[in-house]
Parts: sequence; C-alpha cells; structure tokens
Amino acid sequence: MKTILTGLRVNSELTIGNYLGALLPMVRLANQHKDDYNINIFVPDLHSIISEVDGELKDNILKSIKIYFAAGLQPNENVHIYRQSYVPAHSELCWILSCIASMGELNRMTQYKEKSEGKSSVNAAIFNYPILMAADILLYDAEYVPVGEDQFQHIELTRNLAMRLNNKFGQEIFVPPVKTEEQIKFMGVENGIRIRDLSNPEKKMSKSTAGENSKVMMFDAPEAAAKKIMSATTDSVGKIQYDMFNQPGISNLLQIEALVNDVPLQDVISTWAGETHYGDLKRKVASSVQTMLEDFQNRVNDISDEKVLEYLETGEKYANGIANAKLLEVQHVFNLR
Ligand code: TYM
Repeated sequence: MKTILTGLRVNSELTIGNYLGALLPMVRLANQHKDDYNINIFVPDLHSIISEVDGELKDNILKSIKIYFAAGLQPNENVHIYRQSYVPAHSELCWILSCIASMGELNRMTQYKEKSEGKSSVNAAIFNYPILMAADILLYDAEYVPVGEDQFQHIELTRNLAMRLNNKFGQEIFVPPVKTEEQIKFMGVENGIRIRDLSNPEKKMSKSTAGENSKVMMFDAPEAAAKKIMSATTDSVGKIQYDMFNQPGISNLLQIEALVNDVPLQDVISTWAGETHYGDLKRKVASSVQTMLEDFQNRVNDISDEKVLEYLETGEKYANGIANAKLLEVQHVFNLR
C-alpha cells in the first residue's frame, strides 16, 4: 500500500494558515484514502527544538495530535500517528543523507535564507533542517506529502536526494515523493495554498510574525479572531474579485471563506462577483472563522490524553518497524552493515 505522510511542528500555536493550508487538506485526504493508503501523521518534535526550547513541548505534542482529531481525522488501522524523536531512524538517516546532500543546494532553500537573513549567527540545524525532513519522508516510501506552498522546495530537495542515492547505488532504495504539480493535484487544491498575513497580505501568515492582528491562531478566542478578520488590510480597488497580485487582501479573504466552508474557491468567487462592499465580505468571513474556531476548540477539549498516548504507542511501534527496515537497507549499501 502506498503512503501519504505529513508533519506539523508544534513549538507555538497553530495559525489558521497551518490549519487551512496543510492540516485540513491532509485530514480530508486521510479520510478519503484511509482504506487504500497508509496515512502517516507525525509530530516533528526534533524540528521543534531548532529555534527555541519550549517548556511545554511535551504537552503541546499531545495537543497537536488532538488537533488532528479535532480537525476531523477518523482513527483507522491504516492511520499511523507517531513522534519523530521516538523513531531514532529519522536522525540516523538524516546523517547519512547529509553525506550526499550538497552545501550549495541547502544554501538555495528559501526558508533557510529567510530565517538566517540579517542574523550574525544561526545554528547549524536551521541549515540542515531540510535533510531531516527528507529522512522523515524517505524512511516510509511516502509518495504523497501534503504540505503548504512554503514546503514545496523541501519536497523537491527530498526527490533529488532520493534519486541521487538510487542512482549512486543503481538500486531503487527510496521511493521519491511525486513532483510538486502532482502533489497539488492529489491534494485536490487548485494551487499550493498560501494564507496571507492579515495586516500585510503580500506576506504569508506566519506564527512568528509579531503583529497580533496579522494572524489568527486556532486557539484565539473566537470573537477576538472575528475582530482580527474585520481589521484585515484590503485595497482601494472597490471590487470584490480574486486577484492575488493586485488585491491580495481581498483574495486572501475569499480563499479563507472557501476553505473554512469546504467549498470550491470558484463558487465563493462567483457568489461575490459584482459586489463592492468590503465590509460585507469581512463580516461573512469573520463569522465563518468564528464558528469554525468555536467548533474546533470544543472538539479538542473532548479528546483525553490517555487516548492520544494509546494511539502514539501503537503508531510508534509501527513506525519503528518500517523505518528500521528501510534504514537497514541504506546501511547495507553504505557498507555499514
Ligand atoms: P510547519 O510546522 O512550519 O508548518 C506545518 C504545515 O503548515 C503549512 N503552512 C501553511 N500553509 C498555508 N498557508 C500558510 N500561511 C502556512 N504556514 C504554514 C506548511 O507548509 C506545513 O505543511 N518542515 C515542516 C514540518 C515537517 C514535515 C516533515 C512536513 C518536518 N518534516 C515531513 C512534511 C513531511 C514545517 O516546518 O512545517
């Protein structure tokens, strides 16, 4: 059976960008394919410690699993949930892959450039991070890796590393994840999703942005979240239409409205075509987001820690089995075994 895999870092709270851009599409895919694919959902806790030490990491890990269920993930024997640091093969393969990755290709990673820009010193993990991500994916032969647009470059790097290693040894050791365009098609979204910063819609919404009104967090008080939407930056064109280039703020609101209500973006665009009152659109989106947060937060509180630990125990047993077998294959070709 083929594998669909994704992970979400947990060091700070989730934004609606993470939720709508990555988590919901993943949950929908998982539910749709739970009988014909392995669905691997893991918590990249080693990625979480790169930028900061989070005193609540352990609790937040449990919370992030609850979030998947609150987002609608249905438990099933093909759904595997695990923590990265509980499967040591991830770090081991990361090291091996770093022996075939080049400094040049890592240097080109946009995320690395953004995160290191203007800093006098950055840790080595920020640079190596995409290699660990490649290991996360390649250990499980995951062909489909639903992620937001900001991670596409890392998926391409993973593909390249997989093909390079296969060529080096003349064997199909890794299954490279499919190309970005095919990932997008498989996810069933027209384009990679990029929810924008509410105050500065030229940029993506990010948990690390300082401005409180820039981002809606999944655990914001729902009414406060609605107010943030009402304060979103728009433009002076005076027409509600989808034009990410000239009207990124309005387009972002249309996109959010479509994703929150699980309707095609095109339908939302048609509904608002010809309308000119930005306030009406903001009120509608604010109300959709408020309702979504209320429902979501209630569902998170319904899932117990015990239940989550039970899923993790089973998931980690499974993950170690698959990952160790793949690692052994790699160790063999490198003559380590
Ligand atoms: P992370 O934790 O930064 O983000 C989790 C997921 O959310 C997506 N995302 C967005 N999507 C749309 N609009 C936005 N504004 C937005 N912001 C974030 C991200 O694309 C991501 O899919 N490196 C990964 C975690 C990871 C991983 C992996 C993912 C580690 N190993 C292996 C897949 C497979 C990360 O830091 O995502």
